Amino acid sequence: MNYQSREEKLKKLEELNKEAEQGGGEKRIESQHNKGKLTARERIALLLDEGSFEELGKFVRHRSTAFGLEKERYLGDGVVTGYGRIDGRLVYVFSQDFTIFGGSLSEAYAEKIVRIMDLAMKNGAPVIGLNDSGGARIQEGVVSLGGYADIFYRNTMASGVVPQISAIMGPCAGGAVYSPAITDFTLMVENTSYMFVTGPNVVKTVTQEDVTAEELGGAKTHSTKSGVTHFSCPNEVEAINRIKQLLSYVPQNCEEEAPLLPYEPGDELRPELNEIVPVNPNQPYDMRDVINGIIDKDSFLEVHKDFAESIVVGFARLAGRSIGIVANQPQSFAGVLGIRSSRKGARFVRFCDSFNIPLLVLEDVPGFLPGTDQEWNGIITNGAKLLYAFCEATVPRITVITRKAYGGAYDVMNSKHIGADMNYAWPTAEVAVMGAKGAAEIIFRKEIAAADNKEAKLQEKVDEYSERFANPYSAAERGYVDEVILPEQTRQKLITAFKMCETKVDSIPKKKHGNIPL
Ligand code: HXC
Repeated sequence: MNYQSREEKLKKLEELNKEAEQGGGEKRIESQHNKGKLTARERIALLLDEGSFEELGKFVRHRSTAFGLEKERYLGDGVVTGYGRIDGRLVYVFSQDFTIFGGSLSEAYAEKIVRIMDLAMKNGAPVIGLNDSGGARIQEGVVSLGGYADIFYRNTMASGVVPQISAIMGPCAGGAVYSPAITDFTLMVENTSYMFVTGPNVVKTVTQEDVTAEELGGAKTHSTKSGVTHFSCPNEVEAINRIKQLLSYVPQNCEEEAPLLPYEPGDELRPELNEIVPVNPNQPYDMRDVINGIIDKDSFLEVHKDFAESIVVGFARLAGRSIGIVANQPQSFAGVLGIRSSRKGARFVRFCDSFNIPLLVLEDVPGFLPGTDQEWNGIITNGAKLLYAFCEATVPRITVITRKAYGGAYDVMNSKHIGADMNYAWPTAEVAVMGAKGAAEIIFRKEIAAADNKEAKLQEKVDEYSERFANPYSAAERGYVDEVILPEQTRQKLITAFKMCETKVDSIPKKKHGNIPL
């Protein structure tokens, strides 16, 4: 028998490792670099704590023999998978390599992703996908579709159990976009990443539309028009940093709490908050000023920043504690709730509730957006999503009414009736069925019509209505508002109230699952 020497065996391993680390080979990497993109391994190196990456399935090769594929059996098969640490916390990661068959997904490639998803579920840690893929590997046929379905199934089972984050770092098509769609957060890199179910060529054939990849599914499109992506990042490095930042606000899994940063209590009064709401109730202001006045300095991470801007959502810290904020934005369409803003708010509320992140609601909302466009496209069902999401949430949740809390929107925006733990109002709050002018015009219509001076009569009735309802005191009389506070006290009140709710235990009735109006 002719035995291989120890040296030969070690050399073989060394060669295989080198080959695997080259991905699709120097030439292919070179061409990808020309597009200004990092390689799959460079991305992982940037994402994880130095030296913490443990690769799994490095020597996996595809098993396909169709269309000459047997001649191109790259080690790793186009995806780098494994686990490592971010700020010392365990994460699982897969990074798709566009240099191998356009990052397309084969049976073997899918098995590698499935493997780390299963480990993530068993060990309770986030899954991060760095996506750069042309979808199902066309040459493999149904086995690659099956591979995708195995991933979608796990994405769904993992939803609400461990956080799942998808960064889109190149052109992603077909199945490569459905998996990210099921995950909790999607980030896109401007100018180099695209997401579409079918690309511009297919669009042209089917609908005769001429559209560029950027217009159809670029970062701008998905961060402003469709809302498919939560973060649009100027480059890959920013996208990777954003993933790390995002993880710092969330727990490892649904059984844990988000990391608590050390905090020394001090002077928590914030007099600058007193000046934000304008005297004229119809004048807009930026709710982000209120948010930044309340939270720990520079701790706001806004989600879906450029999408459905009449609602602002994002993570922040309050006395070191991670919280989710849902706030109406008077600066955009007077903060009105529409189809998109309701969906945006609902999805964020459900994420926070899944992962034990307390909710703060800042309310200044004149109601739901009227019009045929909204009605025909289902403002009823979509508005109900936000209502449903709040009703169902069992995390600590507190509302501060800064100005308007009108009509159904008062109920929806985390009122105590639907389970909020505390409801504060500023003296500028107006808790009423509708705005004073609209209300006066309806309920005093006959009286105003009969008056000699109709304008003066209308004003008199507006004043009468405002006196009665355009304030927080009727709501406070009933206990719907727990306390009317000065804006400057808000931070201090919230710190104390969230601390009080720290041990909250609440549940919803036993059921298989609810039926949110999708
Ligand atoms: C096999 C693929 C591939 C795929 C790309 N490649 N997509 N190989 N299967 N799905 C290969 C190309 O042949 C090429 O190989 C290399 O990757 C780079 O691709 P290019 O087209 O040159 O790159 P680019 O111009 O940047 O365009 C990228 C792209 C485009 C937009 C992703 O390649 C594309 O449209 N691909 C097909 C997308 C698609 O229809 N996928 C299947 C969807 S079905 P060479 O050797 O020439 O370098 C699906 C079902 C899932 O995913 C179920 C969903 C519910």
